[in-house]
Amino acid sequence: MEKSNIHEQTTSVKDLPQDLFDELRKYIDGLEDRKGSLINILHKAQSLFGFLPREVQLFIARELGIPGSQVFGVVSFYSYFTTKPTGKYTISLCMGTACFVKGADKVKFKLEEKLGVKFGETTPDGLFTLRDVRCVGACGLAPVVLVNEKVYGNVTENDVDRILSDYQE
Ligand code: FES
Repeated sequence: MEKSNIHEQTTSVKDLPQDLFDELRKYIDGLEDRKGSLINILHKAQSLFGFLPREVQLFIARELGIPGSQVFGVVSFYSYFTTKPTGKYTISLCMGTACFVKGADKVKFKLEEKLGVKFGETTPDGLFTLRDVRCVGACGLAPVVLVNEKVYGNVTENDVDRILSDYQE
């Protein structure tokens, strides 16, 4: 098959590998304060699976002996966590106040125009996911864009092409 698509490049729920659940269980078992470590556990789970589908959230709830609704509540509160498969590169645009007043909305519009998807969506080739986040604590660099872990500061709409070209294959 020549052309790949998002379904081939990202993990579907039914394909969640058992060994990742085993690794997550091992991580949880190694924690001293399990119930007080929900956020850390969710970070670990997202780094293992790439996202936090319902099955993973329920697994964590069972392991901790807490209601699933408690886990769902935390996942939906923090914009960092995602319940959908993501692309190879996640472009996170800060929409906190400092970034917003310095023109993050223009950057947002340009990213959507260039990639042909809206925020919260992944490009059909599975390369980029667009998401907006709250203040990432780098207001002096506003507007701020992160591509996975790499930080770009003082970004304007004119920088979008250059940033994307660093990752386009
Ligand atoms: S508001 Fe964007 S980094 Fe703080």
